[in-house]
Amino acid sequence: MKTYKSKILVVDDDQKIRFAFNEVLKKDGYTTIFAKDGVEALERVDADHVSVIFMDIAMPRLDGLEALRRMREKDQSIPTIIITGYGTMQTAIKAMQLGAFDYLTKPLDVDKIRELTRKAMASVGEPEDGTHEHSMLTVDVVDRYELVGSSPGMQEVYKLIGLVSTTPATASVLIDGESGTGKELVARAIHASGSGNGKPFVGINCAALPETLLESELFGYEKGAFTGAAERKLGKFEVAEEGTIFLDEVATLSLQLQQKLLRVLQEREFERLGGSTSIPVSARVLAAANVDIESEIRKGNFREDLFFRLNVIRIHLPALRERADDIPLLANYFLAKYNEQLNKDVKGLSPEAMSLLREYQFPGNVRELENLVERALMLTRGEQITPDMLRRMMAGSRKSSFVPVKNSTFKQSRSKVLLIFEKQFVEEKLSRHGGNVTAAAKSSGMTRQNFQRLMQKHHVRAESFRQDNSPRS
Ligand SMILES: Nc1ncnc2c1ncn2[C@@H]1O[C@H](COP(=O)(O)OP(=O)(O)OP(=O)(O)O)[C@@H](O)[C@H]1O
Ligand SMILES: [Mg+2]
Repeated sequence: MKTYKSKILVVDDDQKIRFAFNEVLKKDGYTTIFAKDGVEALERVDADHVSVIFMDIAMPRLDGLEALRRMREKDQSIPTIIITGYGTMQTAIKAMQLGAFDYLTKPLDVDKIRELTRKAMASVGEPEDGTHEHSMLTVDVVDRYELVGSSPGMQEVYKLIGLVSTTPATASVLIDGESGTGKELVARAIHASGSGNGKPFVGINCAALPETLLESELFGYEKGAFTGAAERKLGKFEVAEEGTIFLDEVATLSLQLQQKLLRVLQEREFERLGGSTSIPVSARVLAAANVDIESEIRKGNFREDLFFRLNVIRIHLPALRERADDIPLLANYFLAKYNEQLNKDVKGLSPEAMSLLREYQFPGNVRELENLVERALMLTRGEQITPDMLRRMMAGSRKSSFVPVKNSTFKQSRSKVLLIFEKQFVEEKLSRHGGNVTAAAKSSGMTRQNFQRLMQKHHVRAESFRQDNSPRS
């Protein structure tokens, strides 16, 4: 028998939800009390001994996030699980920043409720680890780097982004996932939602530069440090100030630079090349990898000690094929984006086109989906993107990267690939210019005659790229 009954406060304006919680929690031996909105919740918390709170966001009078904020202002640190009907990145991040214990999306999952109740209960009475003290941030999230997706995998990502901003800048973050899954977007979202927002975001792609150049970019140099060092150059670590430094493709760093980076992370200072003054590092370090970094460690290509320093917080981005439920959301998001950019008014994807997308494996992940939607949109002249349109694009991208080798000489193979490329190039140029041949030729750096010759060779007709009101050429 329990010595006292733990009270759980459930705050939701929906009577069915309150009822459901009551059923679940009563069976597990907890006492549940209820509130219909944020104002009532604050009253209950003042009047009663509440151990754990489940609280909806959208409620009349006072919403859940605001209620949570006021509780934290009054130093009430009752573990609170925020519930929302619609899992956006913004709300998840905000909830975690306000010090929410966790974050739940509707429809509610009974096992999840039980699990979170247990965890939250276990956390009560344990010594405070201090995380809640930092967790009240005044910074709001910027929505410029909005990540789209409401699958459980992405919810986890949003939660972690929110959590990062409650940790000190010395906690590095390792973001991993296949190419095109949104690692850079996550890095920017971390920057935008943290205390470094407004300070510089300095990105550097470790794979793009040769070692010596990369070294001088990262650490800078003093005048005369080597031939050609005509004046002092600041390193990225100092340029980032109290902001963020994003080391993209970190797994490609040479072992020598890995060691230097390790030192920076350990000592939080460095010297410019040829210099002797120690320069303090205040930026948060984010690193991204699209390879399996643990296996790079086993192969001896990546230092384990550096890995531990970078991997204080790990954010893994699931491949798009592992979260197919996000595909329609993303497709519509990109449709709206490119409708605006390309000044088109395509209403949507046909249901068949959508299910085709959902079945596709997307080796290039979100980036590939984005390109696919953009190209399909350019070539669509009807109201909807159709499945044949998509099939053609998918086949097209496969064909152009497919190099025929069997029974082909080099020359034959090359001309086949070239033909596919030429046709696709001409079509896309025309599409971008609404069937205006003069403009398409100009932007291709070709004379109108040469461009037209290519069109004829591939039986491409300008009319089929014209919108009703676009200029004739
Ligand atoms: N969840 C998402 N919502 C909206 N757009 C996304 C999302 N994920 C990725 N994108 C878009 O897809 C493209 C690729 O994303 P990003 O550059 O962040 O990928 P990455 O993981 O860094 O890839 P790589 O490993 O190839 O560098 C970008 O245009 C980005 O805006
Ligand atoms: Mg990237």
